[in-house]
Amino acid sequence: MRVNVTVNGERRQADDVWEGESLLFLLRERLGLPGSKNACEQGECGSCTVYLDGTPVCSCLVAAGQAEGREVRTVEGLADGNRLDPVQQSFVDAGAVQCGFCTPGLVVAAHDLLQRVPRPADEEIREALAGNLCRCTGYENILDAVRLAAERRGESESGSESESAGATG
Ligand code: FES
Ligand code: FES
Repeated sequence: MRVNVTVNGERRQADDVWEGESLLFLLRERLGLPGSKNACEQGECGSCTVYLDGTPVCSCLVAAGQAEGREVRTVEGLADGNRLDPVQQSFVDAGAVQCGFCTPGLVVAAHDLLQRVPRPADEEIREALAGNLCRCTGYENILDAVRLAAERRGESESGSESESAGATG
């Protein structure tokens, strides 16, 4: 079957997609986006997390055909050109990346959390990331990364607010 899907803002098409093929396979093997990782293929580790119509999903559990006509945003699509998203940059700066296998899923999950809850408490961070497993046990640094990303997002928002107040005032 043919699947038409918008990925990171671009309309993409894949042919000969087989029934039962996962969205994760489609993204990695057909569309050349290896950011989302295949670690368990059973919905248990979160390494394959992507946004589907704005909601984080485990792409290993979504059939590629279910993405027909929908919008997918992968970890690659969070960056603005060569500029990393604050969540991505904070994972780097906080040393929250060891082997990196869990990182794309954690980054998408943290990105989603901060969009919903800009200043999350530690409990909220833990809960939001509960479905993402890190085999390198780097959870403390991961928490630090999300706290840092929240701070940076807050700073950039207050910066843009004062800029616009300056522009209008
Ligand atoms: S690879 Fe999808 S949840 Fe682990
Ligand atoms: S950094 Fe290796 S699994 Fe998390």
